Amino acid sequence: MPRRLVVGNWKMNGDSVTNAALLQSLMSGLNGSGGVVVCVPFPYLHQARSLLAESSLTWGAQDVSAHRQGAFTGEVAAGMLKDAGCSHVIVGHSERRQYHGESSDLIAQKAGLVLESEMTPIVCVGETLAERESERTEEVVFAQLDAVIDRIGADIARTVVAYEPVWAIGTGRTATPEQAQTVHALLRERLGRVNSDAAGIPLLYGGSVKADNARTLFGCPDIDGGLVGGASLNVREFLAICGA
Ligand code: PGA
Repeated sequence: MPRRLVVGNWKMNGDSVTNAALLQSLMSGLNGSGGVVVCVPFPYLHQARSLLAESSLTWGAQDVSAHRQGAFTGEVAAGMLKDAGCSHVIVGHSERRQYHGESSDLIAQKAGLVLESEMTPIVCVGETLAERESERTEEVVFAQLDAVIDRIGADIARTVVAYEPVWAIGTGRTATPEQAQTVHALLRERLGRVNSDAAGIPLLYGGSVKADNARTLFGCPDIDGGLVGGASLNVREFLAICGA
């Protein structure tokens, strides 16, 4: 797994016409360089697959069911995502935690199923503004990470972790490189207690990553890349972020 990674999280945006234009421009702009993933809405996974099959870009999903199969109306199983060619699956995005009441245990189960289907989970952790202001950042992100480590153990070395402070997502308010680096270093240290492979996984920063702040953020020693929401829908912005 390349340590340098940029992941576009399209969230609930796009349609087949705009997606095709965006993916075509990304393919020509990236010119064969790897380490870039686009996480598209479920209905467009097959479109991503047919357009990107021969390219260096890979595609993934934004969520997955915590069940393997069966009577779970509306859910999408990890095996189905594998079948659609996904390389990565985001689990535990703060919008899932916040709007769908997902617990760290549920997210840990999802991460386990993604691994079982031989894809890479991108495990999101991050504190709210109130938690940061009450100096609970470390406690919160460790609890979120530990729930996953407790479930999958040394397989944490087969994941990607994304630190996304909730107060920085879609707000235009980016964590300073110092704030982000501090949390990344703590996460790296915590992962290192599992083993040295775990300490070497890609640690992504997410939360209002833009063309003009990507280089400074990615220049921090423990920030290996980004999980990019809004800016991943804009070709120029996203290509500049990948370039950084
Ligand atoms: P943003 O979203 O880049 O729009 O802040 C990041 C994310 O939610 O993954």
